[in-house]
Amino acid sequence: MTVDLVVRNCTVVTPDGRSPDSGIAVEDGTIVAVARSGRLPDGDQVLDGGGAVLVPGIVDCHIHNREPGLEYKEDWESATRAAAAGGVTTVVGMPNTDPVIDSPEHLELKFERGEASAHVDFQSYAVVTSENLESIPDIDEAGALGFKIFLGSTVGDVPPPSDGEILEAMERIRETGKRLGFHEENGEIVDHYTERFRAAGRNEPIDHAHSRPVIAEREAVERAITFAEETGAKIHMFHVSSGSAAKAVARGKGRGVDVTAETTPHYLWFTEDVLREKGNVARIQPPIRDADEHEHLWRVGIDEGAIDCIATDHAPHTDEEKLVEDPFGNTWDAISGFVGLETEVPAMLTFVDEGRFTLEEWVSRHSRRPAQIWGMYPQKGSLRIGTDADFTIVDTDLEWTLEDREELHSKTRVTPFEGESFTGKAVATVVRGEVVYEDGDVVGESGYGTRVDVD
Ligand code: DOR
Ligand code: ZN
Repeated sequence: MTVDLVVRNCTVVTPDGRSPDSGIAVEDGTIVAVARSGRLPDGDQVLDGGGAVLVPGIVDCHIHNREPGLEYKEDWESATRAAAAGGVTTVVGMPNTDPVIDSPEHLELKFERGEASAHVDFQSYAVVTSENLESIPDIDEAGALGFKIFLGSTVGDVPPPSDGEILEAMERIRETGKRLGFHEENGEIVDHYTERFRAAGRNEPIDHAHSRPVIAEREAVERAITFAEETGAKIHMFHVSSGSAAKAVARGKGRGVDVTAETTPHYLWFTEDVLREKGNVARIQPPIRDADEHEHLWRVGIDEGAIDCIATDHAPHTDEEKLVEDPFGNTWDAISGFVGLETEVPAMLTFVDEGRFTLEEWVSRHSRRPAQIWGMYPQKGSLRIGTDADFTIVDTDLEWTLEDREELHSKTRVTPFEGESFTGKAVATVVRGEVVYEDGDVVGESGYGTRVDVD
């Protein structure tokens, strides 16, 4: 028997363990065998992993791909090109585009654009505002992966619904069986301190971080959890940045609430000192926290397990919007967010190299769990026979430095990871049996990526 693609001579790692000298056989885009190299069938195309590590495709459930409407920052093609180059096989786009993704029509537009140009598979969230509570069942029918509520205003200025509207949204979303994620910063606290800081002339990048204190995040987490406890909704905390918020998630889990949480490589990698060193380049919402909260996030979130998954919050902006020419310029003139798709796997592999995660724990949080949380498992996030042949091959020993952000594939390339050194990198990315990235080149076709179907 000859199959379409065989990958041999890898250490195959899943959350359940690792098998050396193994590989995968693929036919018609699905996995037909995972076995020792010598027991795999012949393939029309054969890749020799050279002893590298092969893991189920990385799932990034939090990116801002900016299309429709903000293509000057990024679009589906460029975001998914960066994903392929970063070892990411599935991405989920955020709804703060123009128009915002708040109706079946806008969701369909987002899907159409993705079908036309994506390199890897994709999905999208829809936003819930004061205006569209009644549309929740129709948005569900139109195929959204899940829903998002902004509890405080952030980039895109989507106004937060009232607490009553949030409760009603949770009841309606519960009926769809889907999950509701939050941008969890209490808008009133953030607005208050922002005004105070600006009036006092506190204009440095670190002031932006301090104007969005941990209590704003913790209160928002606790409120969402209390409402979910009341309504029975399934909820998710996007981009948890502090140990205090992770602790609040742990308490919610302890009370039996179906609350999941993500953090990002930048909260695990940097402390707020990066704002003093790199300025507005590192400005993001929620902000990068001080050393105490950072360590607490590692302990409660990672070591004790309050954080389920890793995502980037990939948020491209132009150099002008990020004040790249003047990184310590007035922070209130700068925008929040930076790209991350091509540094997330290297950052996580560096943590593995430092002994802070095992490979199995990394794969659990960066592939299996996000797929499970958002209802894409086992089609995505597993290496089961009969599922999509999505996998990422990584070199865990490669030591390298992101010397020049122009190496990146996004349309705009601002990142505080420029100049950082890593141990590990994706060397090949395979989506439904097609090699989309190999040896430094994106080789897949724009438009190959497709929407992940969820019921
Ligand atoms: O820093 C951020 N940037 N935080 C957000 O909540 C949104 C994101 C963006 O869209 O740029
Ligand atoms: Zn985001």
